[in-house]
Amino acid sequence: MSKTFFIRTMGCQMNVADSDLVAQQLIERGFLLTENVNEADIIIVNTCTVRQHAEARALSYIGDLKKLILSATSATETLADRESSADPHKPKSRKIIVMGCVASRLKDELKKKFPFIDDVIPANEIEKVSEVLEKHYDCLTSNLSNKTFSEFVTITRGCSNFCSYCIVPYVRGPEESRPVIKILLDIEKLTNSGKHEITLLGQNVNSYNSNGTDFADLILKINDISEINKLGFMTSHPKDMSDKIIDAIASCEKIPHQIHLPLQSGSDKILKLMNRHYTKEKYLTIIGKLKKKIPDVKFTTDIIVGFPDETEKDFNDTLEIVKEVNFASAFTFKYSPRENTKAFFMKDDVPMSIKKERLARLNALLKIESKKDVR
Ligand code: SAH
Ligand code: SF4
Ligand code: F3S
Repeated sequence: MSKTFFIRTMGCQMNVADSDLVAQQLIERGFLLTENVNEADIIIVNTCTVRQHAEARALSYIGDLKKLILSATSATETLADRESSADPHKPKSRKIIVMGCVASRLKDELKKKFPFIDDVIPANEIEKVSEVLEKHYDCLTSNLSNKTFSEFVTITRGCSNFCSYCIVPYVRGPEESRPVIKILLDIEKLTNSGKHEITLLGQNVNSYNSNGTDFADLILKINDISEINKLGFMTSHPKDMSDKIIDAIASCEKIPHQIHLPLQSGSDKILKLMNRHYTKEKYLTIIGKLKKKIPDVKFTTDIIVGFPDETEKDFNDTLEIVKEVNFASAFTFKYSPRENTKAFFMKDDVPMSIKKERLARLNALLKIESKKDVR
């Protein structure tokens, strides 16, 4: 009987794409995907640690799995499985795997905290998930399928930008651009399975470069594929948004007129402390150029409030630029110190009450801006 697996995905689209890849590999090895965690032989948790709250959520979910293992038996589990296990509450046949960014950060510490975890697999070693499971379970019939799940196509892995607040470069490793041919094969697989709207993924897609093919060249190439109707991408980094890329975006008719361009802060002082490598002026210049070339373009963004040393004046600079750009929507966050990042060693000196208050003011302004339709 085929073993079933359940996969819970937290965090960003990178994790969604990684979970898809793992699911695909497991299906090809004869495992069956289930939506019901109670009946799964294998429970995979794909975790996020970008902010402290995200990690806390992941740990709490993993903690809750213990109760589930104690109370429910999986669909294929037998009494013998339970009896042959060293721990009567943890049948040998039931496996718990933690992957993703918390796995990268805490590694074996996770197993100490939750002894019922079988394997901890870091975010940049996802191919190990199917390897490990092949070892646990023998004799699998191959179930080769062309099934794909989401519309995501990873173009770069990891990140080498080291924004001072961000843990991603530490848990995902250095940026690597995938070869064009592999990206095109992934796209072909998607179009063959009936998907015609795709989204290219990378922590900073604008710095894509594989043997001289840069991001502009890549989107122009993909825009020419007749089976593709819609071509999205995320995330752009203002520091690498060159004129060549702006021109390419404007000339690709399959790119939606909605661009996600993380701002993080409107204060030059804070942007410098964040190691973002652009100024407010540079950000506004990019927005201006894109608006000129694509008159109905809309922007979405990410903003952090309460970064170390953010004064009321710095915060007001952020409010000002938000008014100037007229964002359609934004993801907004309170700064959360992450261990061993550069900012972790700066004093987290904006009190929580002020972070909360600034977040509320920012969100109120964004709500007003998103309803305006000025261009
Ligand atoms: N690579 C993307 C996304 C990174 S994570 C980018 O560069 O934009 C998504 C968002 O989480 C970031 O844009 C940032 O706004 C936020 N973020 C990252 N680390 C954070 C931290 N330590 N505290 C608060 N927000 C953070
Ligand atoms: Fe983090 Fe900056 Fe890399 Fe985005 S570009 S993942 S914010 S280090
Ligand atoms: Fe979270 Fe890792 Fe993405 S930390 S935001 S899942 S890259």
